[in-house]
Amino acid sequence: MRKAIVTGGKRLKGDVVISGSKNAALPILAATALLNGEINLHNVPHLNDVITMLRMLRSLGLRAEYHDPNIVKICTNHTVKHVAPYELVTKMRASFFIIGPILARMGLAKIPLPGGCAIGSRPVELHIKGLKALGATVEMEHGFVIVKAGKLKGAKIYLDFPSVGATETLMMAATLAEGETIIENAAQEPEVLDLANFLNKCGARISGVGDDTIVINGVSRLKGTEYTVIPDRIEAGTIMVAAAMTKGDVRLRKVLPEHVESTIGKLREGGVQVDVQDGDIRVKAPSRFKGLDLKTRPYPGFPTDMQPQMVALLSISEGVSIMTENIFENRFMHIHELRRMGAEIKLEDRSAIITGVNRLSGAPVRATDLRAGAALILAGLVADGETVVDDMERFIDRGYERLVSKLSKLGARIVEVGGNGESNI
Ligand code: UD1
Repeated sequence: MRKAIVTGGKRLKGDVVISGSKNAALPILAATALLNGEINLHNVPHLNDVITMLRMLRSLGLRAEYHDPNIVKICTNHTVKHVAPYELVTKMRASFFIIGPILARMGLAKIPLPGGCAIGSRPVELHIKGLKALGATVEMEHGFVIVKAGKLKGAKIYLDFPSVGATETLMMAATLAEGETIIENAAQEPEVLDLANFLNKCGARISGVGDDTIVINGVSRLKGTEYTVIPDRIEAGTIMVAAAMTKGDVRLRKVLPEHVESTIGKLREGGVQVDVQDGDIRVKAPSRFKGLDLKTRPYPGFPTDMQPQMVALLSISEGVSIMTENIFENRFMHIHELRRMGAEIKLEDRSAIITGVNRLSGAPVRATDLRAGAALILAGLVADGETVVDDMERFIDRGYERLVSKLSKLGARIVEVGGNGESNI
């Protein structure tokens, strides 16, 4: 098990290049099972979750591998198998998204149910309900969902919640369905738009993405293509918050500023200077952050995936702040660890009431999920003494490409120890 050891007290300073988006790359990779042909995907982050998705594609009979640290080549001229391995779906919930492409391509898919996870129960009934509306029959057997459909048929689907995963599953399935599908109350996240752009480049007919109603006109086949994944807005947000916490001066390159507007807005509200120059973002934090209230919401609202990092910032800010988590019911596990570092945070139902303290103190801490892991590293950057964050493979390498090396280049005192001494990916 690798650990990160962070010694607090350094201001972050310099330039950093933002990697490709994990949450865009994963559904795009799943969608390749819909196509016939070769796909070259650029700007794919080199991450454990991506490696899990590539293993999933190979288990289905596709050729899928990295050809460069950030280029993935996929060949889908082989027959696609219809059963997804249990160990891959339980390892990473996003591998369940393969259900839409396999069903649409093969007329049959047998996928293990993903089960609960560290940030809540995360059910998949919206995916299933939507697939039923497209004409699939659904059975549950020994922990697997078995979906069958001769040929999917376009339908009007209203999502009770704008779930990112359900929108993506249904969009993928509907690309090869007969006729028109309309998804109402669809997710509007940039990653959903990136998936639609990719599919359209492969010959799909999808419109309205980025709005709450998506229209998909089914086509009979999709072909291979060349595509570049969007930058990771959560990595960008995490580094912006790190700059704010350390009173730093950091320029983010290869980023899409319009995707991080809610984070920029909140940072400015708390007194951070954020300038967008030639597509780069420069974050300068001259003084202590002023506490504020905020609520997580579907895009374009403040993202739940930035909540733990923002709580870390608010824990050392001026005054009292309230963070309300509206997306996941159990996403405050990092708060117990932040308290062990001296943060003053009370939990009331779905809100964290945070009284800013002058200093945090380094401690051994344990992450519970990816973004919680990032929040603890950020807390370590400003804590007195050493903070040791365990299990980097599970909680950082899954979703942040070279986070330790990027922070270290910005001046942070952070090293990794244990494991084989280097990243295992
Ligand atoms: C995606 C992101 C994740 C992010 C989340 C919300 C990927 C790989 N992951 O996850 O990083 O935190 O969006 O922005 O893109 N829900 C149901 N029933 C369903 C589906 C979802 O009740 O069938 C609920 C979930 O339990 C959760 C909420 O809807 O409370 C949001 O989930 P969803 O948008 O589906 O998130 P994911 O796609 O799993």
